[in-house]
Amino acid sequence: MSKIEKIVLSYSGGLDTAIILKWLQETYGCAVVTFTADLGQGEELEPARAKAEMSGIKDIRIVDLREEFVRDFVFPMLRANALYEGQYLLGSSIARPLIAKHLVGIAREVGADAVAHGATGKGNDQLRFELAVNALDPSIKVIAPWRQWNIRSRMQLLEYAEKHRIPVPSDKCGEAPFSIDANLLHTSTEGKILENPAEVAPNHVYQRTVDPVNAPDTPEIITIGFERGDPVSVNGKSMTPAALLTELNGLGGRHGIGRLDLVENRFIGMKSRGIYETPGGTILLAAHRGIESITLDRAAAHLKDEIMPRYAELIYNGFWFAPEREMLQALIDHSQAFVSGEVTLRLYKGSASVISRTSPCSLYSADLVTFEESAIAYDHHDAEGFIRLNGLRLRSWAARNSR
Ligand code: ARG
Repeated sequence: MSKIEKIVLSYSGGLDTAIILKWLQETYGCAVVTFTADLGQGEELEPARAKAEMSGIKDIRIVDLREEFVRDFVFPMLRANALYEGQYLLGSSIARPLIAKHLVGIAREVGADAVAHGATGKGNDQLRFELAVNALDPSIKVIAPWRQWNIRSRMQLLEYAEKHRIPVPSDKCGEAPFSIDANLLHTSTEGKILENPAEVAPNHVYQRTVDPVNAPDTPEIITIGFERGDPVSVNGKSMTPAALLTELNGLGGRHGIGRLDLVENRFIGMKSRGIYETPGGTILLAAHRGIESITLDRAAAHLKDEIMPRYAELIYNGFWFAPEREMLQALIDHSQAFVSGEVTLRLYKGSASVISRTSPCSLYSADLVTFEESAIAYDHHDAEGFIRLNGLRLRSWAARNSR
């Protein structure tokens, strides 16, 4: 093992990173700086400071990254309508490059030669952290304790905690907690009973959305304003990115919007089952598609939809800071120049449905599409020729088939 002088640890203060902190101190005997990102996970962050202090940490960083997270990571991704495997809104995937960016920034500032994270050797998150660090500063080493130590299971982790008098939290039912990752965009829950995809997820898994069955019986109508592809207001009230997403999380959570029970394909090779809750993000995706429906040209919209799975996969696999992601982002951002206006949605028992849209940049022409008589010059005979030529090869093909 090469000599390491100083490490910046991505530290939530939860069980795993508390153990990792102890292990780093024991294994490397060097200074550790803890970095705790406030991504709107809805947890008190001061306990993380207290725990780090108790472990003898001198340099403790707790940074509010909520606005940067939503403005520079969530919203750019939303412009693409990104969904991994058709369903997952990438709530964990998009947070990792931001955390990595700040780990690298702090490492440079304090002259650390390594950063450390608490992602396991089986998941996607290790890739997202480490590929981002590689892309941002190849001189910084990455320490991944889960791949280095001889703790091989959560059971052994709990034993280590006991041995070192690290308190072990329990869930609402007094059991060892699920593996949870939360931020302003989503809450993801994995592990324990959820590892069997045949088992129905118990109710207490859900943290920030009500069961749609118990959601209010009266629908709620909301209007979201967009400017150049980004949401800027709710019900006419301008909001910062983080405030807007927080507001929509409240509304969506109350109406049971954004629950997803998914079996997905991890980059590393295995399938995994997780429960996601993305209330605000689910509303925003519907709203963004709504405003795009009247402001994007057909070919532009279809091209966006073609590249979307590729873009989503890049984010899922950890290639946020990669040239191809930046190239796709440039294309997506360019498409958003006229994606401005307002979308009204109905929130009701788990669904967010667009019910109206308006835009000063609309391409929609009622005059053109109307079933009634129209002033716009549209020659119906053009359609006849259009169909005849499009049908040309089909007539040849059908004639050949019946020979
Ligand atoms: N499977 C999700 C992803 O790869 C979430 C990973 C983190 N979630 C967790 N509960 N540990 O993005």
